[in-house]
Amino acid sequence: MQTEKPLMTVRGIDKQFPGTKALQEVSLDIFQREIHAICGENGAGKSTLMNILSGSLMPDKGKIYLNGEKIHINNPKDAQKYGISIVHQELSLCPHLNVAENIFIGRLPRLSGDRVDFKTMEKETKAILDRFHTHIKPRTLVKDLSVSQQQIVEIAKAITLNCKILILDEPTSALTESESWNLFKILEELKNNGIAILYISHRIKEIFQISQRITVLRDGRHVTTRLTSEVTPDDVVSYMVGRELDNIYPYKGNPSEKVILKVNNLTRKGVYSKISFELYRGEILGIFGLMGAGRTEMARGLCGIDPVDDGNVTMFGKTIPLNNIRSSIDSGLVYVPEDRKLLGLFLPMNLCENLVAANLKAVSRFGLVDRKSQSVYTREMLEKLNVKYRNLYQSVSSLSGGNQQKVLLAKWLAVKPKVLILDEPTRGIDVGAKSEIHHILRRMANDGYGVVVISSELPEILGICNRILVMHEGKLVAQLTSENATEENIMRYASGRAS
Ligand SMILES: Nc1ncnc2c1ncn2[C@@H]1O[C@H](COP(=O)(O)OP(=O)(O)OP(=O)(O)O)[C@@H](O)[C@H]1O
Ligand SMILES: [Mg+2]
Repeated sequence: MQTEKPLMTVRGIDKQFPGTKALQEVSLDIFQREIHAICGENGAGKSTLMNILSGSLMPDKGKIYLNGEKIHINNPKDAQKYGISIVHQELSLCPHLNVAENIFIGRLPRLSGDRVDFKTMEKETKAILDRFHTHIKPRTLVKDLSVSQQQIVEIAKAITLNCKILILDEPTSALTESESWNLFKILEELKNNGIAILYISHRIKEIFQISQRITVLRDGRHVTTRLTSEVTPDDVVSYMVGRELDNIYPYKGNPSEKVILKVNNLTRKGVYSKISFELYRGEILGIFGLMGAGRTEMARGLCGIDPVDDGNVTMFGKTIPLNNIRSSIDSGLVYVPEDRKLLGLFLPMNLCENLVAANLKAVSRFGLVDRKSQSVYTREMLEKLNVKYRNLYQSVSSLSGGNQQKVLLAKWLAVKPKVLILDEPTRGIDVGAKSEIHHILRRMANDGYGVVVISSELPEILGICNRILVMHEGKLVAQLTSENATEENIMRYASGRAS
């Protein structure tokens, strides 16, 4: 590979945002027929670099060559012209158009008389989607798709654009394991057809499964580019954080017999039924399930966000009224959502405003928000979670993805919860920050908070939870302790292959 001429050469790229040097002197060679992983902690500059290559951002300095010729990528249309497509970290489809229209937007096939050729469009859309083995229909409106289905449509759209260089910015963060596998097979195929793929992911395991080379960025600088076969995951992690990381998962402690939360026969007709479990003091309880298992729905019902039909919930022996979000929050039962963009944060608002939004009382005096205590408090929380930020008044949207996720967690810690149900709390978060969050959750459990974690990442569930509940098609099919749980038997229960 190295004896070949690079398809694309990137030299000396700088990018300054107000107050942040996002990229400094970054150079990179990209070859045909390679999956080239880009790794780095949250805020390292990965998305910024990809946005420059795909024309969404202009660099301050630096040169880009394609097949040895200097090119100027001034906007996304230029990038498309050069065969560069990108799937952005945050979803960007038009919710009110259907799947086929989204895929063909801006280049609808025409019949005579300039009529749109819907038949061809839908046929081609179906052919692409079939490669992903999904049941998504070309005519479904994008707003009716789940996050993971939308992600698949984004990827499908990028690969139809006749691309030579495909950039994927954390494509699997919203995908299930089997959807990820399908994606990897497709990427392999694209690679063999000569396409260069730039692949950003925080999941080190998948990077080692699919990439041939790995580039690591740290604090906006290029640290190294290595052949994947010549490094270990530990090497990559230490390049990323600039130090050795040991003891990735915290010690699991000794849970007591004391019941914090008791859920009895919680049921929502047609979605989940007869869910019963207990949460003990000092434990982290994991909930695992595949897409459609009903985990998120059950958690939302439990916390009073969505209606439930039957069941009862007690916390520290006291009954919590169902179907009443106010009384859930007042009792300290809190759900931290998965989708930070849609449900959790006010992106255009600043860090202070977001952090105190859930608990204005804590920073108010005589009914007015006290600015000083607001900023003292915000700074304290951001430092506790090690958020990388410039100042308290920058918008949340100007933070990197992983740092946004930490702000979301900080926001809910602000309401001083007693029981937290966290839905995919480390999605899109780098290894260092992930480990910090695991330790924070463990400290909370040891301090007597109830901690329930919904996660699709088996190593995470096994690594931090004392017990694991497995859901399948709206039912609780297994309760395992961390001693008798393995990736294999959890998957067997989750896919309905064991009873
Ligand atoms: N529009 C913007 N305005 C100001 N600062 C920005 C903007 N976009 C990114 N930054 C800053 O530039 C730096 C690099 O951000 P970038 O999004 O490239 O990181 P990343 O490596 O993709 O991180 P993550 O893994 O969290 O997605 C961060 O410090 C971020 O806060
Ligand atoms: Mg990013």
